[in-house]
Amino acid sequence: MHTQVAIIGAGPAGLLLSHLLHLQGIESVVIESRSRDDIEATIRAGVLEQGTMDILNESGVGERMRTIGALHHGVELSFDGKRHRIDLTELTGKAITVYPQHEVIKDLVAARLAAQGQILFEVSGVALHGVETGKPSVTFIHRGEEARIDADFIIGADGYHGVSRASMPGQEQRRDFQRIYPFGWFGILVESSPSSDELIYAQHDRGFALVSTRSPTVQRLYFQCDPKDHVDNWSDDRIWSELHARLENNDGWKVNEGRIFQKGIIAMRSFVSTPMQAGRLFLAGDSAHIVPPTGAKGMNLAVGDVKLLARGFEQFYKQGRDALLAGYTDDALKRIWRAEYFSWTMTRLLHTFADATPFEREMQRAELANIVSSRAMATALAENYVGDF
Ligand code: DHB
Repeated sequence: MHTQVAIIGAGPAGLLLSHLLHLQGIESVVIESRSRDDIEATIRAGVLEQGTMDILNESGVGERMRTIGALHHGVELSFDGKRHRIDLTELTGKAITVYPQHEVIKDLVAARLAAQGQILFEVSGVALHGVETGKPSVTFIHRGEEARIDADFIIGADGYHGVSRASMPGQEQRRDFQRIYPFGWFGILVESSPSSDELIYAQHDRGFALVSTRSPTVQRLYFQCDPKDHVDNWSDDRIWSELHARLENNDGWKVNEGRIFQKGIIAMRSFVSTPMQAGRLFLAGDSAHIVPPTGAKGMNLAVGDVKLLARGFEQFYKQGRDALLAGYTDDALKRIWRAEYFSWTMTRLLHTFADATPFEREMQRAELANIVSSRAMATALAENYVGDF
């Protein structure tokens, strides 16, 4: 098989790139280790920045997002027994949409297949070859047979555990930056109506908690936990009592309870791997960088990488110039480091660190108090949150 751009990974990065390339008349093939049903059902993040909404709309795959996504103009911060609203739209002119990542995946898969795009699911044994030559290729097993794609370029959009980053030539020059957090998030999906019109980020001595949503009948809630804890240690009653304790104040507002139908623990890390390219291989999304979930930047960062790559390939194929592709790592890292900073700041601001001194805990509360009493600080948070980079 031959194509222009071989894409490893049918997550938001790989699928969106394939879609954007198609709109420019550039061919690609996407390979994915999981099944279509699996990628379309896996629950991940849910918040789309304004720029992500814009690109989905402009590229013609925004219809379901506009219909079933929930447009939010503000978020709430809860601490010291009170909730405070940050008016994102008043402060920035922009908004966010709560629309689950797997719905974005469904929209992109449907668009690719409708355009006769090739996505090969359930491949295994993926290996990259000739990345440093002008003729790279990918080999793998598909439906029990050995297969091979010759391409002009390979995109590694196969996530943190994928083979692409490890297959990059020049591992001696690789620099990885990492921070692992001493806590995780316990996430649940609940059958109930929304508890709140907007997301609530709560700082509490017992630990962070977050109220989010998935639809009018399904809610997403998270609370800080030990990353080594196990879901079996958490009965529904124990989960609800923890959420009530961390989220409710004396104003009469309560979290809606309902049937919990999914529980999971997410580990948290910050990670950046550079460079994001070598020869004819380019990394996009989680294969090159991870953010802790606080602030929901992960999928949006993947979309940012893909926008740069789509422009780079357009320049390469239409004008025969490789300046944008050559500058990809530097261009992408500017945005990535700012999002890393924001995600780290939000994580540090809102979580309870077991080893924090009493002084450090007071600093954390003073920072929150500054954010809700200073328009300048609230604007900085809002700009970062809506992704105004
Ligand atoms: C969600 C996840 C986040 O990390 C966040 O900051 C807000 C919402 C979510 O999954 O809904």
